[in-house]
Amino acid sequence: MGLTTMFMVLLPVLGSIFVLKVPYPGKFELDAERANILAKFDDYYSGAVEWGAEQPSHDEANNKDAAERYFTLITDFFEYGWGDAFHMSPLKEGYSFKASMAYWEQNFALEMGLKPDMRVADLGMGIGGPLRRISEFTGANITGLTNCVHQVNRAKTITEQRISSQWHKDRCTYLVGDYNKLPAIMEENTYDAAYFLESLSHSENRVPPLSEARRIVKPGGIVAGWQWMLRPEFNYSDPYHMELKRGMEYGGGLRNLNKPSERHLEYEAAGLEVLGSWDMGMQAIERGWNGWWTSLTSGHDIPSTLTSSHFGRKLTMWTVWVLETIGVAEKGTLRTAEMLEHCGYSAAVAGEMHIFTPAWVTIARVPPAPKGE
Ligand SMILES: *[C@@H]1O[C@H](CO)[C@@H](O)[C@H](O)[C@H]1NC(C)=O
Ligand SMILES: *[C@@H]1O[C@H](CO)[C@@H](O)[C@H](O)[C@H]1NC(C)=O
Repeated sequence: MGLTTMFMVLLPVLGSIFVLKVPYPGKFELDAERANILAKFDDYYSGAVEWGAEQPSHDEANNKDAAERYFTLITDFFEYGWGDAFHMSPLKEGYSFKASMAYWEQNFALEMGLKPDMRVADLGMGIGGPLRRISEFTGANITGLTNCVHQVNRAKTITEQRISSQWHKDRCTYLVGDYNKLPAIMEENTYDAAYFLESLSHSENRVPPLSEARRIVKPGGIVAGWQWMLRPEFNYSDPYHMELKRGMEYGGGLRNLNKPSERHLEYEAAGLEVLGSWDMGMQAIERGWNGWWTSLTSGHDIPSTLTSSHFGRKLTMWTVWVLETIGVAEKGTLRTAEMLEHCGYSAAVAGEMHIFTPAWVTIARVPPAPKGE
């Protein structure tokens, strides 16, 4: 693309940022300097910027902090590129990107069997987009948790600004906390269900968060995951597969992506019974939907083409480059955009190759027998 075209496209974007005050990536103030957080993040994934098949060394103690830093860095990018839900979903012709996302959130809620007034925990809630839609759809009372203070603040602001119904507000609660060790307020045997919506793979070892979910959910209750996972076809001995895996892990703030058979052992180690497990991405394709990766490659509708598609992400990078160069966006904003671009690219390629999915659903339950037997 020539420079002239680039500026013709950039101008309206910059115009809408300054004139219409559309939030741009890097707009919201962080509680630490972006460049500083990035340096720590890179340190955690030491050597990760030199893309290659070699995996970064594990650093379990730093895992929680890495996820927190990651989400502090990327939250406003995701709000800009994806809206209030930071997950991927299959897409349907004639449905907008947002309607497609909401459709599969509802499908997930249905699979979990959520009902009005159930007490439900959303562990790793992001800024609570899915939580708000699932509580509205099912009538369940959902408490969301994230270890990122920035995200809880955004969730509360959005709820104040966009939710007009008191009925709905009464069913959305947000907490700051670590899903590896849930806050005391989330008591044992008090929830009807708990779910992880694209949040479980941020933990290097999934047993602690799953064990915590098992602890707070009543016997017989559901613990469900919608997860970034390698599909069974993924080949650990193939250097190209491994390079894509690493690109997704670094840019996605993830660790140690694994396959369904390996993930099930983690559910079982947490004392859960796996009832069912499948790739919702492929399920949707069978039903005539487009692959979830479309939003990352060509784009699905006009808004997603402008922000999340391959072209949209380039546009975001140019925008951010301009904003950072003229001193409007903080230093390190472009690097954050590049990191996300690499993740988006790797995920799209791996998706088209059918070796990865961001929507592997696992439905498990807490054994119905009394606990502590
Ligand atoms: C939903 O749960 C929250 C947190 O436990 C509680 O404060 C609130 O009263 C509940 N809302 C309804 C409608 O029961
Ligand atoms: C996995 O990759 C290795 C290295 O490229 C290759 O030799 C092997 O045949 C592959 N396995 C399968 C099942 O495709």
